[in-house]
Amino acid sequence: MIEQTEFQYRLKATDGAARLGEVLTPRGVIRTPAFMPVGTAGTVKGMYPSQVRELGADILLGNTYHLMLRPGAERVAKLGGLHELMRWPHPILTDSGGFQVMSLAALRKMSENGVTFRSHIDGSYYELTPERSVEIQGLLGSDIQMQLDECVRLPASREEIARALRLSLRWAERSKKAFESQPKGRALFGIVQGGDDPALREESARGLVDIDFPGYSIGGLAVGEPQDVMLRMLEVVNPILPADKPRYLMGVGTPDDIIESVARGVDMFDCVMPTRAGRHAQAFTRFGKINLKNARHAEDSRPLDEESDCPAARDYSRAYLHHLIRSDEMLGSMLLTWVNLAYYQSLTAGIRAAIAEGRFEDFKAGVKEGWARGDI
Ligand code: GUN
Repeated sequence: MIEQTEFQYRLKATDGAARLGEVLTPRGVIRTPAFMPVGTAGTVKGMYPSQVRELGADILLGNTYHLMLRPGAERVAKLGGLHELMRWPHPILTDSGGFQVMSLAALRKMSENGVTFRSHIDGSYYELTPERSVEIQGLLGSDIQMQLDECVRLPASREEIARALRLSLRWAERSKKAFESQPKGRALFGIVQGGDDPALREESARGLVDIDFPGYSIGGLAVGEPQDVMLRMLEVVNPILPADKPRYLMGVGTPDDIIESVARGVDMFDCVMPTRAGRHAQAFTRFGKINLKNARHAEDSRPLDEESDCPAARDYSRAYLHHLIRSDEMLGSMLLTWVNLAYYQSLTAGIRAAIAEGRFEDFKAGVKEGWARGDI
């Protein structure tokens, strides 16, 4: 096999606007559409790395914000980088930190230069600039890095959305410059902002394409707007983005968001939903979402899905899962996280197979029918 030394995207097939592709990196191939499990603090909560891999994940997401606070980027670098530290030798994508600062940190202050804030862990003071964010992601050893950006919560005024997207464009330039010194084979993505305003989305996408990135993220969505608004923004942005570069929709979403976004040309996704929901008694299945806390499962000896390839969905009774959750047992969270990540990976694998065979629309209709039929 020829060693992959560059970052590359290969578009292999299209079906309508849906795209089948591969992102090639020195650490391995990412089959797209891809779902990236979230490993915020150097762990996909409740899962062994080998288990996550076996489910079919080609790439994980890590967070600059959490890792810079604890254990610290310089310390991770000293320990051999994030892949080595967490024993995940495959690709890792990192978010740039700004988004998490806005949702988690105290006393945050945005300026032209960057964002200053106090840690939610111990109150200590930090500054995150576009340059420092890229430096931290480099110290972590991240394969796909994100520019620092400002995401505004919706609803927001047009002025506020425009200000944030223009600041993000200036930060995109600075991030790109700071990234130049990193080893070959890694990639930095620009992030499209522009809220729920089509003209501002267009301005952001065109501005980033002019700067030129090896891939583009779409941020500022799933932040309080209805799904149809999010999908409309994808219809505005995706045709502007180059067909020969990957597109990553940040922080999205439900299985339905994913399938509808693939239908509009998105290639990569990440979301805490499968892992977080798993810790809160929710199971994602072919029959839709099931709440295992509900008393109706107390004596139900059936598994969640006897046809699933996932042992957690196939081999344990609903009654047992219900009992574990009611008793606040760690294994309950672990099994449901496993069920959910298996479901998300099987959904994206199904999407890829369907695009390859030119039957994506039928696949989408079939999957939705299963959710609508519900849990019987
Ligand atoms: N995660 C979810 N949405 C966003 C966003 O708009 N920006 C960044 N950096 N991360 C995100």
